[in-house]
Amino acid sequence: MQPTFDDQSWRKLDLPHDWAIEGPFRLEEPGNTGKLPFYGVGWYRKHFSFPAKDSDGRFFLQIDGAMSYSAVWLNGHFVGGWPYGYSSYQLDLTPYIKAGADNVLAIRLDNPRESSRWYPGAGIYRNVWLLKMNPIHVAQWGTYITTPKVSPQEAAVRIQANIENQSDRPAAVSVTTVIRSGKKIVAITPIQKATLAPGQPGLTEASVVLAQPRLWGLESAHIYTATTTVEANGKVVDRYETPFGIRSFEFVADKGFFLNGKRVRLNGVCNHQDLGALGTAFNLRAAERQLEILKEMGVNALRTSHNMPAPELLDLCDRMGILVMDESFDCWKHGKTKNDYGLLWEDWHEKDLRAEYRRDRNHPSIIMWSIGNELIELSDASEGPAIAAELTTIAHDEDPTRPTVLGSNKSKASYNGVQKGVDVMGQNYQTGGYALFLEKNPGIPLIGSETSSCTSSRGEYFFQTPDMVAAAADLAAKKAAEQGKPAPPAAPFTPVSPYRGQGKSSDFQMSSYDLYAPGWGCAPDFEFQAQDQNAFVAGEFVWTGFDYLGEPTPYNFDVTNLLNFSDATGKAEMERQLKELGKIKPPSRSSYFGIVDLAGFKKDRFYLYQSRWRPELPMVHILPHWNWPERVGQVTPVHIYTSGDEVELFLNGKSLGKKKKAPNEFRMRWDNVVYESGELKAVAYKGGKHWATSAVKTTGRASKIAMKADRPVIDGDGRDLSFVTVAIADKEGRMVPRSKNLVTFEISGPGEIVALDNGDATSLEPFQSSQRKAYNGLALAIVRAKPGTAGVITLRARSEGLEPTEVKIACQGKARKNPAEE
Ligand code: GAL
Repeated sequence: MQPTFDDQSWRKLDLPHDWAIEGPFRLEEPGNTGKLPFYGVGWYRKHFSFPAKDSDGRFFLQIDGAMSYSAVWLNGHFVGGWPYGYSSYQLDLTPYIKAGADNVLAIRLDNPRESSRWYPGAGIYRNVWLLKMNPIHVAQWGTYITTPKVSPQEAAVRIQANIENQSDRPAAVSVTTVIRSGKKIVAITPIQKATLAPGQPGLTEASVVLAQPRLWGLESAHIYTATTTVEANGKVVDRYETPFGIRSFEFVADKGFFLNGKRVRLNGVCNHQDLGALGTAFNLRAAERQLEILKEMGVNALRTSHNMPAPELLDLCDRMGILVMDESFDCWKHGKTKNDYGLLWEDWHEKDLRAEYRRDRNHPSIIMWSIGNELIELSDASEGPAIAAELTTIAHDEDPTRPTVLGSNKSKASYNGVQKGVDVMGQNYQTGGYALFLEKNPGIPLIGSETSSCTSSRGEYFFQTPDMVAAAADLAAKKAAEQGKPAPPAAPFTPVSPYRGQGKSSDFQMSSYDLYAPGWGCAPDFEFQAQDQNAFVAGEFVWTGFDYLGEPTPYNFDVTNLLNFSDATGKAEMERQLKELGKIKPPSRSSYFGIVDLAGFKKDRFYLYQSRWRPELPMVHILPHWNWPERVGQVTPVHIYTSGDEVELFLNGKSLGKKKKAPNEFRMRWDNVVYESGELKAVAYKGGKHWATSAVKTTGRASKIAMKADRPVIDGDGRDLSFVTVAIADKEGRMVPRSKNLVTFEISGPGEIVALDNGDATSLEPFQSSQRKAYNGLALAIVRAKPGTAGVITLRARSEGLEPTEVKIACQGKARKNPAEE
């Protein structure tokens, strides 16, 4: 921490930064934390200077997130810190800062082992800001904008601004706020005047009415900007911008969720905060890409499980029209792992909550504050209800406009008083219990805060599934009939089955028939049915939208901390797995829960959700792929996801029958298809009319590489990214589904490869590399331009025996703005 310390040999890097994502992955590390070395002590140092003429200012350091127990020194003086790695905080550097000289900021982080149930990342993984202000200024997160009345005709907008006077004399301040829609000024508040004693903050408040407001909604997420100007003694001393939205929403216990007066079912996903191969180091484009993919599926809501997100993620949700459940904790005072937040609870939970609400309460996207996930206290009537009520009081104190919620995995908590401690009850995996909840709690709105937990690996299909058993029995019966023999007894069949040994493989993948979930979860279809039968439920948040680092259920049984899991089902499941798989150490380091894999490639389930969440979009999706030379003559079930209501399936031009979707049927199934190579084609109908067609074909052998950049032009700010999909293709350019070819990359021009991935949860190859094996036909290269450059980047890919290829990405040498500034 001493300024004289010689740090010249230290590695130079840019923030945000995750020190653990570079690995290396180690087989013997716990799968639950991603087999990555996230623990330990890390130091960051920054030298900076500013002109002597600026010495009259106040200086602050704003840290959006540092994992964890961050402690900050400036020029050898301890300034402060914050332990919870997901919170944002600000420190006053003024007492120790030197104008016109070298300043040395030193930040120490300390990540304990056994402090997380998933990969938490490590380092200063979010943005950090050095702020210079006049001593009289808008306080940290000092504005609060609410819209007490909203209608299409007019909206009342109330603006509170907390002004600090850090000068040594009283200040007579005038405060006014200008509201803009785009560039156009739509309202100006009356001037508020206040006299602030030295060291005393003062709250000003003003209201305006906007005629014909443009409402914030899912289709058009209109953002207004409020610019608050503070004048002291006739001089402008601060100008502070607050983006906000005008919308109304309501949770109605027996009717669900309403946005601007309209019933909206929350079609949500839970996501962890890591960005796959980029780790937790926040990147705006990577986060935006995730949200774009989810929106394409029909997602309208996101749960930031189980912690407060990067502030920019909320800006993106504001701009893209995605509703947010902003969550704080994965535990309260009783921890789930030895060194988790339980240790901080007593001293920090109120500070963490208030920081979250202050920072986030102007985001129109946020519709609920989740005060925690699956807390140990929930089933204990002597603890759970009181803590829930305490946290709800804190939330209402900072923001009375939004309800609190929690994610409860304990059915007891819906009846023991916990449900009364929150404004909206969230049930995790209690799909069968919705109706009873309403009956017993007629005044409390309900949401499926966590659902399904279906597991799958992109492009893997195993044929020992229950449907296989049933289909094989059918086939046997048919054959027997042909031979004039009696049919053998049919095997029992259940359409929604927890995996209980099913759907797994000896190479630690999960079958993509989308039928398998751990004991506490269910196939997506089961939740759909429950939501339809209980229309009062506000919606669901599926576990999870994207795969994430860590928690590779069902292959995470090597981890010891989960054995401390107090939940009986979870513990029993772990123990069962331990027994079943003995001493084998699975290499799995990331989850199988994602609807989209870690690299951002869609799994089949994407289309199952899309068929339900975007019923107006004509689509039909077939699974599995049709490259099974070893299965000729064998039963190979085909499942179809469509937004239509009827499908005819053809194999090599021959109809295998036309089927109508039955009530409560969300996937169409042809369980008896006998494999022959060629073309499988699905023609979907809706209301008797053609709706969509798609086909899968047996491909030729791998002969070339195909590459496509998601954005062929990127900014040269060193942050913007192009995500390049690399496919192993046959001569005709069709992706060869089971290919695993090793691809080597070369880059020229002003760019660099940030990371490579393929979405394989069992791969321990480093993300930072110049080569990567394809996984089931695909790999991903993440490319960025070097800061301040312009020109054309060329990415080349080659692989033994395949025709090489290249893709060009133009980089335009200008900085991309934070969406909040746009
Ligand atoms: C839930 C938990 C999540 C995740 C999930 C996996 O019980 O809240 O964090 O662990 O299980 O199914």
